Amino acid sequence: MPQPVLGILTLYLNENGMLEERDIYRKMTIAGRKLGLDIIIFTPQDVNYKQNRIHALIYNEASKKWSRKWTAFPHMIFDRCRIQRTYRFDQLLQFRSRYSHLNFLNRPLRNKWTIHRTLMKDSRFKSYLPAAHIAENAQVVSEMLRKHPLIYLKPINGTGGRGILRIERKKSGNLLIQGRDQARRIISPQKINSASLSGYLSAWDLKGTRYIAQQGIHLKLPSGRVHDYRMLVQKNGEGVWSVTGCAGRVGPAGSVTSNLHGGGHAVPMTELLQQWVSDASLVKEIEVDAEQFSINVAKHLEQVYGRLCELALDLAIDRKGQIWLLEVNPKPAREVFAQAGEKEAYHQAIIKPLEYALWLYRQKRNGKAKNTNNNNNSSLTNMDALSKSTIDSA
Ligand SMILES: Nc1ncnc2c1ncn2[C@@H]1O[C@H](COP(=O)(O)OP(=O)(O)OP(=O)(O)O)[C@@H](O)[C@H]1O
Ligand SMILES: [Mg+2]
Repeated sequence: MPQPVLGILTLYLNENGMLEERDIYRKMTIAGRKLGLDIIIFTPQDVNYKQNRIHALIYNEASKKWSRKWTAFPHMIFDRCRIQRTYRFDQLLQFRSRYSHLNFLNRPLRNKWTIHRTLMKDSRFKSYLPAAHIAENAQVVSEMLRKHPLIYLKPINGTGGRGILRIERKKSGNLLIQGRDQARRIISPQKINSASLSGYLSAWDLKGTRYIAQQGIHLKLPSGRVHDYRMLVQKNGEGVWSVTGCAGRVGPAGSVTSNLHGGGHAVPMTELLQQWVSDASLVKEIEVDAEQFSINVAKHLEQVYGRLCELALDLAIDRKGQIWLLEVNPKPAREVFAQAGEKEAYHQAIIKPLEYALWLYRQKRNGKAKNTNNNNNSSLTNMDALSKSTIDSA
């Protein structure tokens, strides 16, 4: 019998067919073969819609080469597409909508603001969520600064630490503004008086790009660098949510974000927590709490938005040991574990989606898997998906 085939759905980054995670796909192909799973890589541009065939990219382990091959549709699809403001993203929305009956390992999630509102509705999560509002104008931001001495302004669809402002109200009443622009360049810190905020923000097009103003958590280490944690939860080979790992991230000097792409580096979680939390005896308890919380969030979001196979949560932990959810990432990178020296977590991060795909394949074959094509919001999703103005899901 032929092996099950998993298709990794991705997007080209430019006109030359550049892919963001080719090396991860290579690793997945090698690991998949050992597990009895064939892997093909494709983008919506590689689909022949008339013949329902795919001009897929396939890695050959023996020759160590990538090549193109026309194939049938895979048994399962792992959607790894991240938001990009291009015609390619529109093609993706059409692909997802047209082929929504296929067997996806994961459905798209929503933007930062929608996820915040969804989680706020559940009493289990409330205390983990920093206060947040849609920053439709400078007044909302001023209002938030009255209640919170520190806030972060972030695009609701942003990724990679782009276009983020950290605004701190000092004792004098003046505001210290730091951040990164859309190209992720560090903006030099500025002190302004609160009356000038509106003028300062006029350059930020709060109307055009939707921003969330989120209560900031003080995360500066004694070195002056900010830090946070990346928790990866994934379904395993039994279809059950499990924690794969959690690593600390420390931002570069002068940065208000810790993202690795912005020059941050990864360190083991426990090491960082022990130096940071005032009562070090709480470290184990905090770790367990963070893990349980993350699993619960994954289960809940899956119930609301349809099947998921992995999620990475950006967590902040304050000096008292309180855990805060900064953001949920549906398309996580895995490199943080390799960088933190956590080889086993890195290996698991690569193979768990494959083991889960095999589990799902067997369930489907035995007629046991629930159909998650039509999640609660599917009609809305498809309409959203076709509306070019709504880039609302990754
Ligand atoms: N409320 C906050 N308090 C303190 N630090 C924050 C806050 N929000 C964001 N940060 C810092 O900025 C970083 C980027 O924020 P966030 O993860 O929300 O944006 P992103 O650009 O979507 O990142 P990603 O690369 O994970 O997609 C965080 O990892 C954290 O270091
Ligand atoms: Mg993030």
